[in-house]
Amino acid sequence: MRIFDTHAHLLDEQFDADREELLSSLPAAGIAHVMEACCDEAGIDRVVALVERVPYFFGSAGVHPHSADEFRPETLDHIKDALTRERMVAIGEIGLDYHYDFSPRDVQRDCFDAQLALAAKLHRPVIIHDREAHGDTMDLLRRYRGDLSGVMHCFSASCEIAKECIDLGLYIAFGGALTFKNAVHQWEIAGKLPLDRLLIETDCPYMTPVPFRGTRNDPRRIVLTLSKLSELRGLDPETLAETLFENSFKAFGLR
Ligand code: NI
Repeated sequence: MRIFDTHAHLLDEQFDADREELLSSLPAAGIAHVMEACCDEAGIDRVVALVERVPYFFGSAGVHPHSADEFRPETLDHIKDALTRERMVAIGEIGLDYHYDFSPRDVQRDCFDAQLALAAKLHRPVIIHDREAHGDTMDLLRRYRGDLSGVMHCFSASCEIAKECIDLGLYIAFGGALTFKNAVHQWEIAGKLPLDRLLIETDCPYMTPVPFRGTRNDPRRIVLTLSKLSELRGLDPETLAETLFENSFKAFGLR
């Protein structure tokens, strides 16, 4: 079985003590590829360095809504430069977070819009973070109809929004939250969307699947999310993993 973890933060300080051990254990655990998601400008060069030395990693460059107030026009050049490096493929994670509101909402929207525009100009996929900001997220995404590709990460909106995102050219990623006991709404969505537009991810060290909820997540735990999705889709995990693996390559424009 080969699995693509389409969203991880292995550079998080929670991995400082055992990162190397963990990275070397992933291929044997069936984790064939990982997309390391960048969160802030200081992270861009760190993601480039990680991806350069770990051959099965891909990377993104971008400013998360939490850090939107540090975004400057020159940040776009930094992102653009990073994307010239090998296996640096996406712009992310970018979007809106009205749950925490760590940056003012108008600043978040400007930061998101500027990065969507860059992605459209460079024909690069995006990794979208939308937390409790579905209306504004969709308003901004609709402006780039025809020029969008990439992923709705940690999807938490409605089935109607999922379908519209697919129509806009995006893939829908589910993480550990799919295993939570109260995720009935997500089960329904994950069970009926077109299979060829689904992805799985960990968002590690966060969003740890049941029964490890509350502990640090890592890419190996993705099998629990895979198992839940295989139950929802009525497919065996091996067949599903292979489909999701191929979807991941398409979502990120990889060959
Ligand atoms: Ni993330």
